[in-house]
Amino acid sequence: MGTARIYAVIDPATGKIDRSIFSDQAVYDDEMEKIFGRAWLMIGHESLVPAADDFFHTYMGEDPVILTRDGEGRLHALLNMCRHRGNRVCRVDDGNAKRFMCTYHGWTYKNDGALEYVPGEAEAYYGVLDKPSLGLLEARVETYAGIVFATWAKNAPSLEAYLGDARWYLDTVFNRRDSGMQALGPIKWLEPANWKTMVDNCSDNYHVPTSHLASARVQSRWLGRPRLSHEDQFASPNKHAFVNGHGITFRDADDNTPRYMHGMSSATLRLFQEYHETTMPEVERRLGALRAHRVQLGNHSIFPNGILGLRLALPRGPLKTEFWHFVLVDRDMPEELRRVVRIGSQANNGAAGMFEQDDVDNWRQVTQASTSRLGRRHPQDLSMGLGHAGPHPDYPGLVSERYISENNQRFFYRRWEEFMNAESWADIALDPIEARFDGTATMRG
Ligand code: FES
Ligand SMILES: [Fe+2]
Repeated sequence: MGTARIYAVIDPATGKIDRSIFSDQAVYDDEMEKIFGRAWLMIGHESLVPAADDFFHTYMGEDPVILTRDGEGRLHALLNMCRHRGNRVCRVDDGNAKRFMCTYHGWTYKNDGALEYVPGEAEAYYGVLDKPSLGLLEARVETYAGIVFATWAKNAPSLEAYLGDARWYLDTVFNRRDSGMQALGPIKWLEPANWKTMVDNCSDNYHVPTSHLASARVQSRWLGRPRLSHEDQFASPNKHAFVNGHGITFRDADDNTPRYMHGMSSATLRLFQEYHETTMPEVERRLGALRAHRVQLGNHSIFPNGILGLRLALPRGPLKTEFWHFVLVDRDMPEELRRVVRIGSQANNGAAGMFEQDDVDNWRQVTQASTSRLGRRHPQDLSMGLGHAGPHPDYPGLVSERYISENNQRFFYRRWEEFMNAESWADIALDPIEARFDGTATMRG
């Protein structure tokens, strides 16, 4: 047996990070085992499987997984691999089925994973096949406000502990309404970039005025959006917060305006403002006054690969990522507003998305640089704001002084390192839950 590699890829004193982790196949293979094999992974949303026997086909890392709701309403995450020889037992994206039949030799599984029927069980197998041990492999499943997570690690902590105080911020989007949210989509596409670059970009506000200059000008000119400038970003009171590997950016809002969403424009702002005000009493009851009025979640990532609301960054080799972008809307949102949000989200995200196209061009080149023999001798520099973050009296987690910072990126790669060096969950630290969760919202919604 070989000795496990010890990763020391980021220097916490300087923020320098080894580029080889963005392109080496051996590192990638290790990630599949040590990160995607043990972390809680976002895999879908309860609204994708609302009724008994509904299913939705998804992925945990590179592994195909069927998210099912069985006849009793329980959720299951089942590896889409027949236990006989390994053929896929489900070939479609979603649907409603009580059982899945493998089309190679006909082994048939119930939607809770149990192996129910084997052709020739008595004759060909002489009645000795151990069917109970040959069910579809099943991951642990837990939900947070309708978002479905799964893990292969039997000894992983609860999802509540895993999210920790990051939930204090996440609630301000995902847990606002009694009626919950609904996932639409997803839009799916491939990008020639390493999966980690998009995750760390979720906390990169520094790029916005430069990379998105043209897109932002279009928004200012045609949609009446405020102009975007470096000066505004540097002076902004908004912040980064980091908890358990999850990168949060948030707006410290004191102006009774709704959180920025795609679809907002001078023509639609009135709709958003009205919705904000009408729902505020309910939001305040659910989240308490501080979170309801002051905290607006911005871009964020849930370790390892859940990003930007409900988007999965699915690794497809070190140099490729498959994105699944869902539009999440409040279930009880007025139809007119749902339409505006859906169209706005589609206009900016996805292969043809206006903002997305600016980003892709950067990410593919960052990934390419990590394959260069010369380039790899020189680390990435993630030193911005070093030493300017810490505990905050009002906000949980490790909070940056400024909105423009590489605080979350540095800690994301340290968390990555921690997972990659851990033998098991026993070696992975979790911050204690310390935030005050005012209001009635819970993990269940
Ligand atoms: S591989 Fe599925 S029945 Fe043989
Ligand atoms: Fe961007």
